[in-house]
Amino acid sequence: MTRPEQYVTRAEARTALEAAARESLRAPSVFNTQPWRWRLIGDVLELASDPSRRLGATDAEGRLLLISCGGALHHAGVSLAAGGWRAEVRRLPDGQHPDLLARIRITGRTTPDAHAKELAAAVHRRRTDRRAFDARPVDEQTLDRLRRLVEDQGAYLHVVPDDRVPELAVSVDEAADANVDQAHHSELTEWTHRPAWTGDGVPATTAVQASLRRVPVRDFLPDGSPGMLPGAGHDEGAAYVIIFGSSDAPVDLLRGGEAMSALLLQATAEGLATAPISEAVEVAWPRRLLSRLLSGVGEPYLVVRLGYVEETDTVPPSPRRLPTDVITVED
Ligand SMILES: Cc1cc2nc3c(=O)[nH]c(=O)nc-3n(C[C@H](O)[C@H](O)[C@H](O)COP(=O)(O)O)c2cc1C
Repeated sequence: MTRPEQYVTRAEARTALEAAARESLRAPSVFNTQPWRWRLIGDVLELASDPSRRLGATDAEGRLLLISCGGALHHAGVSLAAGGWRAEVRRLPDGQHPDLLARIRITGRTTPDAHAKELAAAVHRRRTDRRAFDARPVDEQTLDRLRRLVEDQGAYLHVVPDDRVPELAVSVDEAADANVDQAHHSELTEWTHRPAWTGDGVPATTAVQASLRRVPVRDFLPDGSPGMLPGAGHDEGAAYVIIFGSSDAPVDLLRGGEAMSALLLQATAEGLATAPISEAVEVAWPRRLLSRLLSGVGEPYLVVRLGYVEETDTVPPSPRRLPTDVITVED
């Protein structure tokens, strides 16, 4: 007896889901905290947040934690679509357990998605590039494509017009000034000086020496020596975009993170360098300044700098936790 085209065995579903969870581990996260846990149980893959990895001072409300987890969820979905699996995703499926963010189930097979394959290939090339971008501008068509992808994920994209970039710079600057207390300083020191075995945190090799920028870049090593030079550019051609949504409800922040991942992977696939900037959304007053840039129509989730770098050397990969520490496999 031949089995129907759509039929997926339990073993096949489990293999594909576990592979998707593994691929998701390369997702970006605030301070590279990787605040997520995966659990494969039967033929269901569950994503949960790991509150012990929330940044108490930098991310008191847990917004960046949810955005980071949304990134991992989107990475997993890309892996499944690229492998030709149809999947159903239920977000925040259990009101009693708010840490349980998503349940993924495979519902059948389909032709491997060509676009998802491009994004899947970008997963391993994507880096947060904190160097200055050069004068080559990001064209309108590219920004339109990115906007549509963000909207497909249920969020919105605002491209900050050139003449309002100084306002963005002020809000990032104000936020950096507000974050100079001892609690923020200790948190930054902790996550930039992680022992190698933890597989997390922001290593000095990926931090960039301070220099004058159109919008300040977070100084990850105020007392140390960053591994990269800012380069020849001055961010002249950089585009600054704001991913935003209609509310700061957890499900919307999760979708904001999915949109972030879609944007970063597409930009990487197209040869753009990318760098998330979250300082201005971490502090209430600068976040209000950002809302003004959106004319008050939405809740800002994350700023991303996009552009091109002249330098031919690549940014080294940041570490990741071991799959066995993050993915639990049960029968
Ligand atoms: C929600 C979020 C906020 C982030 N905020 C910043 C930021 O303000 N400044 C920065 O340089 N990188 C920021 N990043 C980038 C992370 O530091 C980076 O993803 C992490 O260190 C892993 O490195 P990778 O992106 O190169 O894999 C942010 C990432 C996420 C997902």
